[in-house]
Amino acid sequence: MIDSILDKMTIEEQVSLLSGADFWTTVPVERLDVPKIKVTDGPNGARGAGSLVGGVKATCFPVAIALGATWNPDLVERMGVALAQQAKSKGAAVLLAPTVNIHRSGLNGRNFECYSEDPMLTAELAVAYIKGVQSQGIAATIKHFAGNESEIERQTMSSDIDERTLREIYFPPFEQAVRRAGVMAVMSSYNRLNGTYTSEHAWLLTKVLREEWGFDGIVMSDWFGSHSTAETINAGLDLEMPGPARDRGEKLVAAVREGRVEAATVRAAARRILLLLERVGAFEKKPDLTEQAVDLPEDRALIRRLGAEGAVLLKNDGVLPLAKTSLDRIAVIGPNAASARVMGGGSAQIAAHYTVSPLEGIRAALSNANSVSHAVGCRHNRLIEVAKGKITVEYFKGRGCRGTPLHVETVDKGEFFWFELPSGELDPANFSARMTMQFVPEESGDHVFGMTNAGLARLFVDGRLTVDGHDGWTRGENYFGTANDEQRGTVALDAGKAHAVTVEYDPPVATGEGINLTAIRFGVEKPLGEADIEDAVETALNADVALLFVGRDGEWDTEGLDLPDMRLPGRQEELIERVAAINANTVVVLQTGGPVEMPWLGKVRAVLQIWYPGQEMGNAVADVLFGDVEPGGRLPQTFPKALADNSAMTGDPAVYPGKDGHVRYAEGVFVGYRHHDTRAVEPLFAFGFGLGYTRFNWGEPRLSASEMGAEGVTISVDLTNIGDRAGSELVQLYVRSPKSRVERPDKELRAFAKLSLPPGETGTAEMRILPRDLAYFDIEAGAFRAEPGDYQLIVAANAADIRFVIDLPSPLDYLLPPSHQATSLIA
Ligand code: BGC
Repeated sequence: MIDSILDKMTIEEQVSLLSGADFWTTVPVERLDVPKIKVTDGPNGARGAGSLVGGVKATCFPVAIALGATWNPDLVERMGVALAQQAKSKGAAVLLAPTVNIHRSGLNGRNFECYSEDPMLTAELAVAYIKGVQSQGIAATIKHFAGNESEIERQTMSSDIDERTLREIYFPPFEQAVRRAGVMAVMSSYNRLNGTYTSEHAWLLTKVLREEWGFDGIVMSDWFGSHSTAETINAGLDLEMPGPARDRGEKLVAAVREGRVEAATVRAAARRILLLLERVGAFEKKPDLTEQAVDLPEDRALIRRLGAEGAVLLKNDGVLPLAKTSLDRIAVIGPNAASARVMGGGSAQIAAHYTVSPLEGIRAALSNANSVSHAVGCRHNRLIEVAKGKITVEYFKGRGCRGTPLHVETVDKGEFFWFELPSGELDPANFSARMTMQFVPEESGDHVFGMTNAGLARLFVDGRLTVDGHDGWTRGENYFGTANDEQRGTVALDAGKAHAVTVEYDPPVATGEGINLTAIRFGVEKPLGEADIEDAVETALNADVALLFVGRDGEWDTEGLDLPDMRLPGRQEELIERVAAINANTVVVLQTGGPVEMPWLGKVRAVLQIWYPGQEMGNAVADVLFGDVEPGGRLPQTFPKALADNSAMTGDPAVYPGKDGHVRYAEGVFVGYRHHDTRAVEPLFAFGFGLGYTRFNWGEPRLSASEMGAEGVTISVDLTNIGDRAGSELVQLYVRSPKSRVERPDKELRAFAKLSLPPGETGTAEMRILPRDLAYFDIEAGAFRAEPGDYQLIVAANAADIRFVIDLPSPLDYLLPPSHQATSLIA
């Protein structure tokens, strides 16, 4: 059928399929009954069309690093199924997920959106996620291919990565997704790879992806991440996103006429788009693109379960789980206590149906007999708190907010990210908007107003210019580098008195340089200070336990910028120290999208890392704190003692954050624990680390064969839960190679198994490895090679807790070209 449609299509029609129609849909060809389909972000939910902020409500699942911490592919697959239903509720046929870039530095703004520092763990979870999504007839889009491990200069930076490192560390999740999950779409990354934009990288998109791995789906660009006509299509990029066409359309038709692109290349790309439409059932039933908010009880339950399953207990001297009945007074403190920080920032944001804060979750878990008191202590927000309340927005034709507004609406938040304006009569390049609200301060004193805008804006308080985002505007880092850095102004205000806040906004003036977005965010806060820390200390003073909810939020852990360091922002470290100094039962609950330094670790009794676990956050954390559920998470990323211990932090800017447009992955394959183990750099918490509430006995491992053969080896370990509660245990299987022609990591994760067992029960963890699991990528041979020799299997609870070391001879020299499937060739 597809070929007969293609036969009937003009070259213009074929070309029309190769760019989006708009931000989120493809181009239909009505004459031939080719429908349009919708794509939607993103990894932890299905946002639907429209802007990144606001929109129709959606179910908010845990972010990827929290899934990485579950080490539980079965649960992640179930989440994939649920996400596909969410995508359907938004009329979408394609989900722009999962994100499988590797945790290279710990400072990557999108660290939260990626699973792990380890390619094998990432691959297992991505395969499960994709299988779940695609089992429901929704296409998954694995991203960002490849080398997108930082947000710095992300539209242009060249990630310079040698081939062995690509093959061993950065490619496996993509490779496995193609081979084992049949992923239907791949998104190229923004960055260049070894000097060439990935969207026009023929080796990457055609040789490796299609020819070696056998990928038969579509490759789409990241949004505005394609920059040429002939180069992209000749390299294998099928779909330019978003639409309408920038470098395609007429330009591509002309390139075909001029012989720079072959008609067969266009046809092959158009064919793949039609195949995608067929795979998602769009020909059978014309997609209905309308959007609904579907909030299901089974999704709520799954999110709650995932939240606990990904919660990593880093320290516990016995204070957890808390016994509800023996606690009279509980102090719940910190900037993340009453505010529910459920997700990261950037394109992964969605409008969650609802959120449960830790304070709400804890209150709901307790009876009236327990008294819960709360203090915020300090703030950690990167930007001034966004304005909330009734905001009237008047839209005008032309700049300068002149005349009568064409459209008036009210919203409840001071953040606007316009992909579409509320009226078709408004020109996105030549309109203006005035927002007005009444702000009534709760307390008297200095208040700080803040504003960041892509475009030009001024903020007035009671008619006086307070924040100038107009004169002298320059690009900063917000809104993916299209807005200025936040500008601030301070005004003394009186409690209880209404103050008029007015913002006047004009869209950006096109300069032809870089992307322009139309966005603005403004807000106000009363700075917190010493009195607020004292208030928190006071709250903790007589409490039986002080629960400190600290960390970051989606303004820090966000697409568009990297983190400045690995410390808790604001005065949070001081808050922890001061609370811990007066309350001997201080428990820290951390929320970050990656590792943090913990100079205060020795002063607190327990530390629980919960990441950004989705809309059920408060309930999930209460489940773990009170022991209704065990903390099932294990670290998917090494937590170093200090940032400098990370292998990308050599002090050489060319290695991180990059210099002269290039970031050199000089550490090669020595990422995460591969670096810590090989170079004997002791971590704060090792890869795979996490405590439970019960204990396990490990039996002696059994091997299915005494040496590696082409069919592989299975390793079985019996685990017995010897504690008195249900719990889970993770078994990691690493391979240590003998001395090799190349320098190899001390050990590499090749399999894992996680068992959940009731008290007293025994189960068997089974893990299987193949010759490829012994191999490194041999550049000269252009193949994975497992040299003959004496390998070791390392059976461990985490990278620093080795339980058994077993010799595994491998007598043959295996040479496995990248195009090979599971079976092995022998050199
Ligand atoms: C992100 C992608 C996302 C796309 C569409 C880009 O900024 O890098 O991950 O899918 O926007 O929102």
